[in-house]
Amino acid sequence: MNDGLRMVQTRTCGAWVLPGDPTCAGIARRLFRRVASELSLDGETSDDGVTMVSELAANTLHANQRQLLPANSELWLYLRGTGQRTELVCKVFDTLPGWVHGNVPGRTVRRAPADAMSGRGLEVVHELSDGHWGHHLTRSRLSGTGVRGKVVWFALPVPGNVKAGGMPPATAGDAMTELENDLSTRGFGGRLVRADDHAADMAVLSIASGLTVWCRSAAAWLRAPGAPAKHWGYCDLVEVGEQAVQAHETNIAAAGSFQLADASRTGSLTGSAQSRAVSRAVSRATGSRW
Ligand SMILES: Nc1ncnc2c1ncn2[C@@H]1O[C@H](COP(=O)(O)OP(=O)(O)O)[C@@H](O)[C@H]1O
Ligand SMILES: [Mg+2]
Repeated sequence: MNDGLRMVQTRTCGAWVLPGDPTCAGIARRLFRRVASELSLDGETSDDGVTMVSELAANTLHANQRQLLPANSELWLYLRGTGQRTELVCKVFDTLPGWVHGNVPGRTVRRAPADAMSGRGLEVVHELSDGHWGHHLTRSRLSGTGVRGKVVWFALPVPGNVKAGGMPPATAGDAMTELENDLSTRGFGGRLVRADDHAADMAVLSIASGLTVWCRSAAAWLRAPGAPAKHWGYCDLVEVGEQAVQAHETNIAAAGSFQLADASRTGSLTGSAQSRAVSRAVSRATGSRW
């Protein structure tokens, strides 16, 4: 395990392997507490986070033991949002397909019967996070090959004056390079098709399955087929990468196929003036039709 504290700043995501043995929850607690202290979280918020991360880590271990499969668990911590709306996002990744049984993360939870011996961990997460929790499909950050799995996550408010991870990217090209590097570590390396228009300070990245990210004027946009476009500032590039991977894995799962080879390599940007502008820029930059 990487026990050295990797600073969690804007635009970086701390990621650690969690062992598949009874030390799993204790190590997750220790790592969370150290990061919470670095971020100057108040005592109560930090204690709540420690309790929640402990529940999530213990759950991956139990689910793993039930299925007799290695869960390859990882702990991820990163900052989302800016100023007074900054939050610390905590995700526990595992490679177990789906949910074993019981409460599936969501906005509401079913209360465990009063005499139940188990089934309260996610109730606790729901209460302590004030409903800011959930789960989604994704890919490992540490395997280097994009191993598929899911995360269960929660988010906590943090003080607005947290450390910035260096200057924000100066150009769309720089921002896209950060995103491209992030996605490459998650197994998308050979699949990405990128085009830059430096004069227009614009960059477009086609991931797969019609999923496209484009950066322009200090904003990163994610377009997925059949979903409204979403956008973030460059301080949230970790979140953009997270959402792109989630959208990709969800699309693949919905299509009932896990063959990345089946996924389209080109994105289509149609339907809005901005999209057409990007298409034209990409055509200019690549000399081909988008
Ligand atoms: N990471 C996970 N992967 C698969 N199933 C999970 C995971 N976390 C929780 N579950 C399922 O949700 C149920 C409820 O979890 P929880 O509320 O923590 O109660 P308990 O751990 O006491 O069973 C678990 O029993 C398990 O079946
Ligand atoms: Mg539990």
